[in-house]
Amino acid sequence: MKLSSALLFIFLIFVQYSFSQNRIVKELDSNWKFQKGDFQNANAINFDDSKWETVTVPHDWAIKGPFNKEIDKQTVAIVQNGEEVASEKTGRTGSLPHIGTAWYRNKFTVPTYKKGKKVILLFEGAMSEPQIYVNGKKVGEWAYGYSYFYFDVSDFVTEGENTLAVQLTNKAFASRWYPGAGLYRKVSVIVKNKESVNQWGTFITTPFISDTEAKVNIKTKTSGENTHLVTTIFDAEGNQLETNKTTEQFGHEFEQNIKVENPKLWSPESPYLYTAKTELYVGNELKDEVSTRFGIREIKYEAATGFSLNGKVTKFKGVCLHHDLGPLGAAVNKAALRRQLTILKDMGCNAVRSSHNMPSIEQLELCDEMGFLFLAESFDEWKKPKVENGYHRFFDEYAEKDIVNLVQATRNHPSIVMWSSGNEVPDQWGAEGVKRAKWLQDIFHREDPTRPVTVGMDQVKAVMESGFGALLDVPGLNYRVHLYEEAFEKFPQGFILGSETASTVSSRGIYKFPVVQEKMKQYDDFQSSSYDLEACSWSNVPDEDFVLQDDKPWVIGEFVWTGFDYLGEPTPYDEMWPSRSSYFGISDLAGLPKDRFYLYRSRWNTKDETLHILPHWNWEGREGEVTPVFVYTNYNSAELFVNGKSMGVQKKNNATPQNRYRLMWMDVKYEPGTLKVIAFDENGNPAAEKELKTAEKPYKIVLNPDKKTLKADGKDLSYVEVSVVDKFGNFCPKATNQLKFKVTGNGSFKVACNGDATSLELFHLPTMKLFSGKLVVTVESTTKVGEIQLEVTGKGLKKGKLNLTSVD
Ligand code: GAL
Repeated sequence: MKLSSALLFIFLIFVQYSFSQNRIVKELDSNWKFQKGDFQNANAINFDDSKWETVTVPHDWAIKGPFNKEIDKQTVAIVQNGEEVASEKTGRTGSLPHIGTAWYRNKFTVPTYKKGKKVILLFEGAMSEPQIYVNGKKVGEWAYGYSYFYFDVSDFVTEGENTLAVQLTNKAFASRWYPGAGLYRKVSVIVKNKESVNQWGTFITTPFISDTEAKVNIKTKTSGENTHLVTTIFDAEGNQLETNKTTEQFGHEFEQNIKVENPKLWSPESPYLYTAKTELYVGNELKDEVSTRFGIREIKYEAATGFSLNGKVTKFKGVCLHHDLGPLGAAVNKAALRRQLTILKDMGCNAVRSSHNMPSIEQLELCDEMGFLFLAESFDEWKKPKVENGYHRFFDEYAEKDIVNLVQATRNHPSIVMWSSGNEVPDQWGAEGVKRAKWLQDIFHREDPTRPVTVGMDQVKAVMESGFGALLDVPGLNYRVHLYEEAFEKFPQGFILGSETASTVSSRGIYKFPVVQEKMKQYDDFQSSSYDLEACSWSNVPDEDFVLQDDKPWVIGEFVWTGFDYLGEPTPYDEMWPSRSSYFGISDLAGLPKDRFYLYRSRWNTKDETLHILPHWNWEGREGEVTPVFVYTNYNSAELFVNGKSMGVQKKNNATPQNRYRLMWMDVKYEPGTLKVIAFDENGNPAAEKELKTAEKPYKIVLNPDKKTLKADGKDLSYVEVSVVDKFGNFCPKATNQLKFKVTGNGSFKVACNGDATSLELFHLPTMKLFSGKLVVTVESTTKVGEIQLEVTGKGLKKGKLNLTSVD
């Protein structure tokens, strides 16, 4: 090696080293000690936690149950649902043991920490009312369980071992759904120099975009005395583009404008991401370095045309999502979120609303990467209560702080195209509420002048009168399809968003007769029919929204309630036990698509063919009885055959909303055998066909994973769909066999879920009954690479075996 290259090598190592010296981000994920209950002195350094459970974070202390109806039993009238008389309700928050106080303790060291450095302790969510202690001393507290927050703990940490203790308290009657419990999102320690970029101190916007160039505006807030800032932009392939150096700052804020030539624009179809690397200097000394991903995209909301992205009018084909991940509870997991988004992408969905609270950072990262528009919401309550111990307790003290943190922590995500300051807040009534709506919207505008603000409104008449709806950037209507026209006339914005739509209820694979449209329909088995004709007193079936979306150019899209079933809110069975999770999902709690999935897919996914028949064709005992057949398809017409006999051709038509979007044969009489549908193209030629056969006895277990290769990081998941078929390979739609799961090798059994809202079987135990012939087993990787085997057995059934691989 020549001297000069040796010196260069040493220099590079030094630069590398000093980079890593400048900013260390350490996720506190392992070796947490956890105990439910309240303890005197649990914050003390030498408190004996040796008998406490050892857990990893993210962690949800309640998800392992057991389910118990007493946990959230309450006698209440749910006013938002139009109830006037109180009645006994169970399962509203999932009937999981999330109420009470618990402690988490973690001992950590920061490798290169020296006194004089700045240390930040960052929580991305803590459910709820966290009290934070470092080395025995209280560093701060927060209230709202969904907020991101941080504390500067520079004066609390030492160079050796540090003790972090967190107390969390969940009150009863604090939520309208399962909120989860514990440190359910990431906790990190960030060590940096005094002269450094502030936490969430970078704000990137793209105020000018043309075919040939984009202006990238970067504002950077810093602390400590420094001399200059250098920002370099990289494309998605890692190629260095432009660099800008500036010494000019006002009140510790730098502002840079950097040109990107021939910009590749971010969109759901092409989610292209750039990275800005920001370096902060004192003289020649590099003091801090921060990388921020961003997208170049233009959003506009205009009267008549509505929402446009990069100059193209785009409708929101969106879903609302609660934050729980079904059997994983609230504990955030990126593989689980990625799977949800993959399922939604296949449906043709292009947007997500984080109802009714701050989304996880992981979900936003994935939406940036996979291409989803995002409506980030903050609150379900303002100052007027919905539930006894809801957010109204914190509103005055925290609302502004919570919004500031939401915006500052997430504003660089190109996926976010709208904020929401609230959902169906009772403050829609009265003059005070109008002022609050304005106050909150102004805070969003102050923190981010580039995105509009909405509120999901259900009191449409009231907000038309009071001015509440008129002052919003985007008027969002929850349901109330009959009031869209009037709201459009009365509101000045020139467009309406379906901020929440449908709330149709169904249970996967369950069909009820006769097939009629119903509201709040209840059955003895506490299930809802998958003919997709049942909704709530305040809501409607999907087709009624489709009419508005298609016929009114000023309706800018919809967010369906909900993409997936979630824990809690078991309407229409709020008063029945056992029933502990929702029926609203397009897919069930296990992530398995219900029939409705294909109805949305047939209109939202414009690239792929959809041809789906319902119901299943196993109706022993219904021989000769009327058993209507529906087909959800993107084709306009189709012919149905029962055992080769034509049931006629159906064509979509405008007679009713259902006739417009579904093909329906209402008079079919059941006979076992084969249902076959042939779909026709525009010219009337056969274009596609599908068959469904009556299955014989359950014979064999079939395993179908969403992925076969996992990352050996101890967090990755494979979701394995388990179903039962007869000896000819026909799916058995009514099978309810009790199955057992065994995982060997370098993986472990994580959870199972069958999507049955009435099941009290525990998710983390390796046995469960099939529901409508299916369930999903989730396998988790370990940190070791190698083979993983899953074996699923059931009495009298040929077992299912699957090999997975875990890699670096
Ligand atoms: C809405 C509400 C949602 C959910 C839904 C059920 O009114 O915003 O949180 O409760 O009803 O239909």
